[in-house]
Amino acid sequence: MKSFYLTTPIYYVNDAPHIGHAYTTVAGDVLTRWHRQRGESVWFLTGTDEHGQKVMRTAEENKVAPQAWVDKLVADAWKPNWTALNIANDDFIRTTEPRHTERVQKFLQSLKDSGHIYAGKYEGPYCVGCEEFKLPGDLIEADGEKLCPIHSKPIELVNENNWFFKLSAFVEPLLENYRTNPDACQPESARNEVVSFLEGGVSDLSISRSTFDWGIPVPWDTDQVVYVWFDALLNYATAVGLTDAPDSEGGKKFAQTWPADVHLVGKDILRFHAVIWPAMLMAAGLQVPKKVFAHGWLLVGGEKMSKSKLTGIAPSDITDHFGVDAFRYYFLRAIPFGSDGSFSWEDMSARYTSELANDFGNLASRLAAMIEKYCEGKVPAVATDVGLSQALAATVAKADAAMVELDFQGGITAVMEFCKKVNGYVTEKEPWILAKDEANRVELNEVLYNTAESLRALAVLLHPIMPATTEILWESLGANKSIGSIGAQTIANVANWGQLPEGNIVTKTPVLFPRLEIKE
Ligand code: MSP
Repeated sequence: MKSFYLTTPIYYVNDAPHIGHAYTTVAGDVLTRWHRQRGESVWFLTGTDEHGQKVMRTAEENKVAPQAWVDKLVADAWKPNWTALNIANDDFIRTTEPRHTERVQKFLQSLKDSGHIYAGKYEGPYCVGCEEFKLPGDLIEADGEKLCPIHSKPIELVNENNWFFKLSAFVEPLLENYRTNPDACQPESARNEVVSFLEGGVSDLSISRSTFDWGIPVPWDTDQVVYVWFDALLNYATAVGLTDAPDSEGGKKFAQTWPADVHLVGKDILRFHAVIWPAMLMAAGLQVPKKVFAHGWLLVGGEKMSKSKLTGIAPSDITDHFGVDAFRYYFLRAIPFGSDGSFSWEDMSARYTSELANDFGNLASRLAAMIEKYCEGKVPAVATDVGLSQALAATVAKADAAMVELDFQGGITAVMEFCKKVNGYVTEKEPWILAKDEANRVELNEVLYNTAESLRALAVLLHPIMPATTEILWESLGANKSIGSIGAQTIANVANWGQLPEGNIVTKTPVLFPRLEIKE
């Protein structure tokens, strides 16, 4: 069975991760967890981009050999960061690993043998921050100097004899791909940008460098190293066995995963993924990715947040205060995926308090307290409130449709609207009043059952977004014993009403979203 295969960009290890990197990886984690809960086979890849001048120079500035530098950052900063954010990736690729470098060399040799690569001379501007050969029209000018518009730093002039990839030969096939296959590049604004870039004409691409050696040697000309983007883009395929014989383990993995279903990228690296990468695949006779999705930037002061501009915020700055699950929730809930968004402590605090602590967390703790108080801690007899059960079915359909389209905001909003509806139901039924008179016992039990059952569904629907908190809720509902693990619950089954059995033991949860401490 073909797996749903999703990748994040592989991140440069010139520095530790910031919340911009975490934004992409959390989105990938939420989407892959959602697909797992749809019962699909899933493969989720992330990793690190370790070659090139940017990483090499940072290592030099720190007086460390590049390999030692990247080893340390990956072990001390990147991998622990993803563990802390509860990222459930299936694989982690590093471009300095032999499984990558060897397959890159084989791939490159095959493109050379099939006539897609030739010797040439490159003369022009290069931005080390982007690791990109720039066109004069890409640059901005300040104080008589030409700057990269993304990094606001001076570009460098490169003048080298290099190897070139015949990228220009793929303009028509690429345009044809995006015309017939609009899904291949999303959102629409990103596709329009790519199409107009292609229509403007594209030159061949220098794919090797000869003035430094931190990279993969070109197999037939070892004085040159492979251009870092050509090396990095291939990670998506080398990690799943590109170039391995079909009947080998790698070959079988490749057949199971390729083509990738979604490459998640920030809009800054869209062209690499929607122009160069599919052209490389076409040249090798391989299928192009099904979807490249370009999301927007997290902004600080109206500009892309970045370490080089000293605006980088470490994920732990936020998770120390709000917790990991609120971090995972907030950005996807607050910013339409595909648009830019500004981070603000005020907005995050407001949503934390109203949506997570009040609407969701309080509902869970009230229900557990009432079942303990009025029903001796046991779920009462199965009952069905038609209004709630119908609303749940509609919620699941809406959330699922949104999530698979990468509309995280739409998906999460649909689920949280249902949560509000359940709160409204409890407020309207006033079980604490019903409990005052034993004559209302049947109605009281029904209200508590319907609320518990709604929370069962909310736990499952929010699990991909907030895995740890929903696990606590699941435990509190006693669902592990009667229904099975929360991760095994499928989206297709979640709206089937009446799953919590009568007599299930409910225990009080620790507060799911504690009151925030005032930040000085
Ligand atoms: N190494 C390349 C990618 C190679 S993929 C074959 C690279 N690395 S990076 O470390 O600069 O990280 C790039 C990705 O991090 C962006 O595409 C984006 O997904 C994420 N972000 C970095 N800064 C960001 C923001 N300020 N806002 C949102 N995402 C950001 O480019």
